[in-house]
Amino acid sequence: MDIVVLSLGGSLVNPGTPDAQYVASLVRLLSGMKYKFGIVVGGGKLARKWAEEARKKGGSEFEADEEAIKATKRNAQFVIDAIKKDVNAKVCETFGDAQKQAAKHKFVVMGGTIPGITTDSDAVLLAECLGAKRVLNLSNIDGVYSDNPVRNHDAKKFRRMTYAQLIDLAGKNDMRRAGTHFVFDFLACKLIARSKIEAHFVHGKNLLDVRKAIEGKPHGGTVVK
Ligand code: UTP
Repeated sequence: MDIVVLSLGGSLVNPGTPDAQYVASLVRLLSGMKYKFGIVVGGGKLARKWAEEARKKGGSEFEADEEAIKATKRNAQFVIDAIKKDVNAKVCETFGDAQKQAAKHKFVVMGGTIPGITTDSDAVLLAECLGAKRVLNLSNIDGVYSDNPVRNHDAKKFRRMTYAQLIDLAGKNDMRRAGTHFVFDFLACKLIARSKIEAHFVHGKNLLDVRKAIEGKPHGGTVVK
């Protein structure tokens, strides 16, 4: 069975309180599809809150990241509990662990791994490790834009991009104000390019597009290959 990896935004799973209804609808879709899934869950607001608390106590950026990783794992456990069967019981701590679990189950779920990166990069590393040809980035933005679509209403959505175009855009975005996150982090962009992994950016709540992206069919988001 082919394996597809999802980078599942923390803001979708836990916009303030865990969104059980959304997670259940996503799980229903995935359960009915003939694919295996690696799912890396983000931290969202909870990660930012816990990281900020660590900084206020005088913690280093390393320690703030460690707290944020705990938030990604909390959200990942919530997703595991919603999937219930044919999934690892506890969040995988390492990629090696995820590889073992993927051999046994339809679903393998993890959160963050080491300080200094984000779950986008973890998702691409998991795809490399499991031999997945496709990664989906599920967030509350429906694709990759030329600029932040929330701030700039003239921003244009890309339908297709090359790896070089995505890397260029992510690089430029890294230099903007703090707090304006690009849709996919720079390291993740470099990693998909080195392994020629197809990346699909769709709104996580548009389940029709999520299905199409999993199958590698045309959808309303952005495809990078
Ligand atoms: P996310 O991947 O959720 O980061 O990890 P994000 O960019 O804030 O994503 P959105 O906005 O929720 O979609 C949350 C934080 O956890 C730490 C980082 O501090 C990151 O910003 N983290 C995550 C790590 O240090 N290592 C990891 O492997 C993953």
